Amino acid sequence: MSTLDRIAELEVEARAAIAAAGDPDALELARLRYLGRKSELPLLLRSIGSLDPAERGQVGAAANQARKTLEALISSREEELAGGELSAALDISLPGAPPLPNGHLHLITETRRDIEDVFLGLGFQIAEGPEIELAEYNFDALNTDITHPSRARSDTFYIDDETVLRVHTSPVQVRAMIAQPPPLYVIAPGRVYRPDNDATHTPQFHQIEGLAVDDGITLADLKGTLLAFARQIFGEQREVLLRPHFFPFTEPSVEVDVSCFNCTAGYLADGSRCPLCKGSGWLEVLGAGMVDPNVFAYVADYGYDPERVTGFAFGMGIERIAMLRHGVPDLRLYFDNDLRFLHQFGAR
Ligand code: PHE
Repeated sequence: MSTLDRIAELEVEARAAIAAAGDPDALELARLRYLGRKSELPLLLRSIGSLDPAERGQVGAAANQARKTLEALISSREEELAGGELSAALDISLPGAPPLPNGHLHLITETRRDIEDVFLGLGFQIAEGPEIELAEYNFDALNTDITHPSRARSDTFYIDDETVLRVHTSPVQVRAMIAQPPPLYVIAPGRVYRPDNDATHTPQFHQIEGLAVDDGITLADLKGTLLAFARQIFGEQREVLLRPHFFPFTEPSVEVDVSCFNCTAGYLADGSRCPLCKGSGWLEVLGAGMVDPNVFAYVADYGYDPERVTGFAFGMGIERIAMLRHGVPDLRLYFDNDLRFLHQFGAR
């Protein structure tokens, strides 16, 4: 076989070996085999000088060309293999090692969303208002005059004489009515503040306000709406009970109980008194009532004629709803950030 034929043959073999190399180690073996210091092609190149001068030019050129071709093939194969390794290492669909925890919603957030879902399903929209609120919206517009005890410095955080940290989400009723004429169906979730701190009161907590204003709204609409809420949040078998109460901004006003989901009429199956409802068979969940005409009078210029429109309003504490649902014994647990508590709840 002529030297030129041998060079061609070596190139064919080497090309096949390079293409077949499935990983960087196999490729390195192929490189050593065909381009290593003691391999045939480089030896041939080094011995060109000893060839017949007539052959020298052609053989030298062919061997050089073969070496360059193979070097180029090796480096491009090298890149291919490295790219494959990299993309395998970066497969973002693979779990981490160790897998990172996903995190989850805080119980209060989860509960707020559950409640929002109920009212969104009933056609309510979500409204929001500021936590630093005008005393006028927090109190005056809600028929709560300057002599009311809740306006005392001991019951409300004041920023200045005209500005407070809202003590309830009810001022959003006023803002929602100013923003939009009736019919109005809104809920307003958010943080509220009161200077209390014990097992059942934290200085900051969360409420969800509800307000429906339309022609011909009655207390029956309020009761039906709250029944739908109670059944979705506490179970299909629930009933609601309205007890007379007082709020400055509703008339009549009620406190609303939901039948206890932990017992039957106050007693457990073994005859013992239910610890959740303390044997009463009812759980107090929120305050509500028919919007007082004085509240409409405050926003009469925005389309709320107190002689024409009627409406209902309600307000509930999110912490309390979550507490009842999950048996949380102390409100402060929500805000201690103890993961042993938090990890027991929350959708992923
Ligand atoms: N704002 C009242 C509270 O914080 C709850 C409430 C809202 C009552 C709306 C009646 C109507 O206790």
